[in-house]
Amino acid sequence: MSQHVSSRISGFYKRCLEERLRAIQALGLLDEEALAHLASGGGLPTAVADRMCENVIATHALPLGLALNFRVNQRDVLVPMAVEEPSVIAAASNAARMVRRSGGFSGEADPPIMTAQVQLDDVPDAEAAAGRLEAARASLLAAGDAAIPRMVARGGGCRDLEVRVLSAELGVLVVHLYVEVGDAMGANLVDTVAEAVAPLVQRIAGGTLGLRILSNLTVRRLVRVTATVTDDALGGADVASGIARASRFAELDPYRATTHNKGFMNGLDAAAVALGQDFRAIEAGAHAYASIGGRYRPLSTWERIPGGLVGRAELPLAVGTVGGATEVHAGVRAALQLVGAKSARELAVVLASVGLASNLAALRALASEGIQRGHMRLHERKRALGVTSTAGGEAAGPASGEGKRFAAERAEAPRAVHQAGGGT
Ligand code: MEV
Repeated sequence: MSQHVSSRISGFYKRCLEERLRAIQALGLLDEEALAHLASGGGLPTAVADRMCENVIATHALPLGLALNFRVNQRDVLVPMAVEEPSVIAAASNAARMVRRSGGFSGEADPPIMTAQVQLDDVPDAEAAAGRLEAARASLLAAGDAAIPRMVARGGGCRDLEVRVLSAELGVLVVHLYVEVGDAMGANLVDTVAEAVAPLVQRIAGGTLGLRILSNLTVRRLVRVTATVTDDALGGADVASGIARASRFAELDPYRATTHNKGFMNGLDAAAVALGQDFRAIEAGAHAYASIGGRYRPLSTWERIPGGLVGRAELPLAVGTVGGATEVHAGVRAALQLVGAKSARELAVVLASVGLASNLAALRALASEGIQRGHMRLHERKRALGVTSTAGGEAAGPASGEGKRFAAERAEAPRAVHQAGGGT
């Protein structure tokens, strides 16, 4: 997004769908195709769907909304989110508005280095074999590069090699090749490298060749973001202290850390889905990283500073602005235009900021009014839709056939639900 475009759009949630689209159109971020796609209600033609995966019988839709108020590394960003859970978008927008008052989110992402793994079993004298593989580093990297000439021409390619003996006794050894993949997520490139170097790896080390595949634990492709928020913006020092205590709770208890991280991933995943990213890979990497020290920990923390809080998050994030769904899906192309990230690294910083915002919104709700009040309001919206399950526990009531009421109210934002804490 150009510097003069603001991600604050006053009263966006109060407008009808057509007015929201007009407001977005006025920002000049979308090309004709993207505008037409959104104006038609989004979706995916079945003919395109049929080329994307197998045995297609229809398409499956999700609401697509916009999170507002985000400022990331001094740039205003609109964040498209595809999500079925009410309040995720409003919550992220609301937290972004609080953080914005102290300058917004800042962050940086590592160069886009993915990990290729080549597995060997029954290697005689695995330690000696590891030494021979390390000595052959240059030729192994060259063999990898030869398999991805176009990426090498674009400035990417194999950067490093690591040999890990997993069991000297069983002769189990794995070779990691670290591959820079530009603005792609990189899975296909890395799998190509793994398969290309495997025969040479085996010739050098001996043993039986096993898997040749990327690792989704992309420890050389981390993103780090930080944000400060004042007591005032949060609604008082007590709320801020409550958030810091909630963060400590997550650091001390994996049961809580799991839910804390779920709240973090609420926003990140929703944006990742809208942006056509491999959210399964993101999830797998994030949770593996959360437990990399031997105990499952929160991906983000909030610490008290004078007059406010500082939040920090670090996680692996393999995302791309080219390749995959970005090539075929008009909605993904529109979403990428809205975000306006110039590189995969920039996109990673935006996504991690959205995660931190979602996490802040959840902790703020939990540390103040609690989650249930908002849940009851959310429940009202579902009742209006006529989709409430009677199996939903105490809060559930019979569907009341008030779908028409929802149609009349559809312009309203999810402003009164649990993590949102107000309009966006
Ligand atoms: C609900 O989708 C997410 C929360 O449970 C996250 C949290 O507890 O931090 C509210």
